[in-house]
Amino acid sequence: MIKIAPSILSADFANLERDIGRISTADYVHVDVMDGLFVPNITIGIPVVKAIRPTTQLPLDVHLMIVRPLRYVEAFCDAGADLITIHVESDTEENLHAAIDKIHAKGKKAGIVLKPATPAEAVLPFLEKVELILVMTVEPGFGGQSFMADQMPKVSAIRALIDQHNPGCELEVDGGVAPDTCRACIEAGANVLVAGSAVYKAADIPGRIAQLRG
Ligand code: DX5
Ligand code: ZN
Repeated sequence: MIKIAPSILSADFANLERDIGRISTADYVHVDVMDGLFVPNITIGIPVVKAIRPTTQLPLDVHLMIVRPLRYVEAFCDAGADLITIHVESDTEENLHAAIDKIHAKGKKAGIVLKPATPAEAVLPFLEKVELILVMTVEPGFGGQSFMADQMPKVSAIRALIDQHNPGCELEVDGGVAPDTCRACIEAGANVLVAGSAVYKAADIPGRIAQLRG
């Protein structure tokens, strides 16, 4: 079963509770955290995660686009994140392992994210200890960009690695996922699709969530 994780980056920030309510048929709430350093944009942080936590029963999928996430993962867990993903490009391998260990010590799920230029093999040091791998299908930083179909071979390669080494691990894609691109992601082996603008710009949001499941 394909899971949908709407990104609240495309929600109305003045009406977050209302807009999170509108995605109640989804599987995760995807929260894009940007620090203005790892990516050239600043979005939302720990107080907002804490504020939205009581507004939904859905798990919070917190995508950290920040440098040295080790500094903040425990605070995001305490704020109510259920799953935290950290970029493989954001710190040393040693510090990324330490961040994953901190997330697990809080009883939460951890994931590794790859930017478009990062090869599939970058997941190997982490593959057996994470609950999710996220492949970016846009350059991280902004919603509403065009889907990068050239990432599909990487998704397929990571699907093969997951099936071989950690079959319970989820495989998520993020960026430009819409009704015309979701099938390619599913066929390549993704089982969780993030979608921001495709969900929040839809007139019928539950209908769009159902459509994206393929
Ligand atoms: C981009 C973010 C995405 C973004 C997706 O850096 O990680 O989650 O919100 O937005 P769409 O679906 O509009 O490409
Ligand atoms: Zn994201």
